[in-house]
Amino acid sequence: MIRNTSKEWKGIRSPKGRHWRSDPAILEEWDKQGLIEWSSNGVPRKKIFVDERDGKKMQDIWEFKDPQYPDYPTEKNLDLLKFIVGASSNEGDLVLDCFCGSGTTLVAAQELNRNWIGIDKSEPAIKVAQKKLNSMPSSLFSKVEYEFLKG
Ligand SMILES: C[S@@+](CC[C@H](N)C(=O)[O-])C[C@H]1O[C@@H](n2cnc3c(N)ncnc32)[C@H](O)[C@@H]1O
Repeated sequence: MIRNTSKEWKGIRSPKGRHWRSDPAILEEWDKQGLIEWSSNGVPRKKIFVDERDGKKMQDIWEFKDPQYPDYPTEKNLDLLKFIVGASSNEGDLVLDCFCGSGTTLVAAQELNRNWIGIDKSEPAIKVAQKKLNSMPSSLFSKVEYEFLKG
């Protein structure tokens, strides 16, 4: 399936190996509103005004503690993974964690309304990830639906 975000916009394609971060129809609307600026090498960006930014700029050192009683030996902090997923993707995007362990990234992606794919070679990891995903509450806006594929 060709997603709109891989199509041309204003006669140009998204940078090599990447999709537009928003649908071309949205880019068009932002352009009409004067909200698109062009980088020196011709890449469009949405203008974000200082008063639109949430919170403070993050520093280089992030402090998150891993869970005290982890479900999996290398389990990571959910807030850390939500921070990374939130900063690097938009709602509806696809998040791939090909070493997903206990599935914390998948839970973070699900909570932030991203699509996701998780892969792990360890059966105990998959079990923990499934347990975590299955115990997430479904809401009107976010239903946990996934397909488990065994290689
Ligand atoms: C550091 S852990 C990931 C932990 C995860 N971030 C969490 O919060 O639970 C790395 C995972 O990579 C998996 N792994 C290692 N080599 C792999 C491979 N070749 N293919 C798939 N999974 C692999 C391990 O089984 C392990 O669960």
